[in-house]
Amino acid sequence: MPEMTEVKLLQFRENGDRRGRLVVMEGETDIPFEIKRVFYIYGSDPDVIRGRHANRRSEFVLVNVAGTSKVRVVDRSGNEMVISLNHPHTGIYLPAMVWKDMYDFSPDSVLLVLASEHYDPDEYIRDFSEFQRMCGNGEA
Ligand code: TYD
Repeated sequence: MPEMTEVKLLQFRENGDRRGRLVVMEGETDIPFEIKRVFYIYGSDPDVIRGRHANRRSEFVLVNVAGTSKVRVVDRSGNEMVISLNHPHTGIYLPAMVWKDMYDFSPDSVLLVLASEHYDPDEYIRDFSEFQRMCGNGEA
């Protein structure tokens, strides 16, 4: 699978019948990478901002499997976008080296995150100015 460099909305197929609904996310097909790590975030108050980092190597897919939240993204060209995560069958793909803030969590929000890498705190960039410098967009 060719490496993706752009933030992209992903629509997953809903397998619905009278018993309810089922959404499948298979690594390397529905998800554009091999899934090495899964975590989920819940119980965050609406005024909390999470994330506040970029990753040197990890790619992510974020899906609100319950409730809603928003993610603000700044890509390596400096483009900013806000994506509402509000369907269990809609995800957002984030390539490596994008800044992300997650916020506006509804009380029932369960934000599922799929990652392409195992956890390594050293690949996290937690300083926005450093991120901008690394992208060549910082102050001279
Ligand atoms: P943090 O990166 O601050 O979460 P968020 O990106 O949502 O703001 O992680 C919270 C805590 O969980 C922190 O102590 C690190 C730990 N953690 C792991 O141990 N493994 C992981 O894969 C992640 C994402 C976090």
